[in-house]
Amino acid sequence: MSQNLSTITCIEDLRVIAQRRVPRMFYDYADSGAWTEGTYRANESEFQKIKLRQRVAVDMEGRSLATTMVGQEVKMPVAIAPTGLTGMQHADGEMLAAQAAAEFGVPFTLSTMSICSIEDVAQASSKPFWFQLYVMRDREFVANLIDRAKAAKCSALVLTLDLQILGQRHKDIKNGLSAPPRPTLRNLFNLAFKPRWCMGMLGTKRRTFGNIVGHAKGVTDLSSLSSWTAEQFDPRLNWDDVAWIKERWGGKLILKGVLDAEDARMAAATGADALIVSNHGGRQLDGALSTIEVLPSIVDAVGAQTEVWLDSGIRSGQDVLKSVALGARGTMIGRAFLYGLGAYGKAGVTRALEILYKEADVTMALCGRKNLAQIDHTILVPGTYPT
Ligand code: GLV
Repeated sequence: MSQNLSTITCIEDLRVIAQRRVPRMFYDYADSGAWTEGTYRANESEFQKIKLRQRVAVDMEGRSLATTMVGQEVKMPVAIAPTGLTGMQHADGEMLAAQAAAEFGVPFTLSTMSICSIEDVAQASSKPFWFQLYVMRDREFVANLIDRAKAAKCSALVLTLDLQILGQRHKDIKNGLSAPPRPTLRNLFNLAFKPRWCMGMLGTKRRTFGNIVGHAKGVTDLSSLSSWTAEQFDPRLNWDDVAWIKERWGGKLILKGVLDAEDARMAAATGADALIVSNHGGRQLDGALSTIEVLPSIVDAVGAQTEVWLDSGIRSGQDVLKSVALGARGTMIGRAFLYGLGAYGKAGVTRALEILYKEADVTMALCGRKNLAQIDHTILVPGTYPT
């Protein structure tokens, strides 16, 4: 089904439609942060404080946002972040988002906590994707996930370091989040207003955690993310485990969830190819700084040996450029693509990417630059950005 989305002009437009179309518990799951949501809000508001220097009468022809992330060519410095339960925003969501990303020319990362499995996405996508790993107590299962990602020809492994314990998001508890939703009166009433979503779900068999059910020992029903993480995620995860995983994987390794310069040095010392400055979209430690605030200190700490990327709070192409200006080699988007997916499926993910691209391109031009090699802190107004 081709849709004319030309009047969808910003990520906020997609968010509003996703909120209408996606069942409340899954919309809320995406659009929430831990506890007071102070860090969640700061991720966006700190970007807003940074001002750009407009330049004029500069030749702007022949612009490009192309670059590489861990050696892989990308059309712009944006990758799709791993997000849990993506296939609950829209039926077969991970497969559709992977296709949209591959066609657009940016990487897609599949979460361990996805609905579509590694094998489903490998079959659906024309290009290699990245796999995000959570470390469980059951190391045999972890090793097996790594081997499955290898067999699916994933071209990088993203190891998340900031979620051995799940941050508390009030709405998930209040909504009784589960995949699939339980048939309570409240849920059935809400689903009655989401006919498109229901039709999509009736048309797929993928309605629970595809990487886990049928693969992890003794797990047949895993409807509750919070009880699964509490029971299975390994709170003892440490740098020795990173070394073990790096060895077992043997390919490009990206460490996600770094927010402190001391940790960044340790992350770089593992020999990882990139690290992601991330506070998990404000979903883990409420009260932590926004990612754009800590980015410069982390870039300083690791120097040029490891690529530094940023996620959490990117809602526009301007946010992407501001991140690059402060030293990020790349960025990742979570909610920005989830809203597109929830609103319009694959076409909505494509639209989200197009919106970010256009915003970054026009901003770059109006700042008087033609490519990312020309982007640094000098496109920003001194005194408005973190140092
Ligand atoms: C899992 O990754 C979550 O943030 O819920």
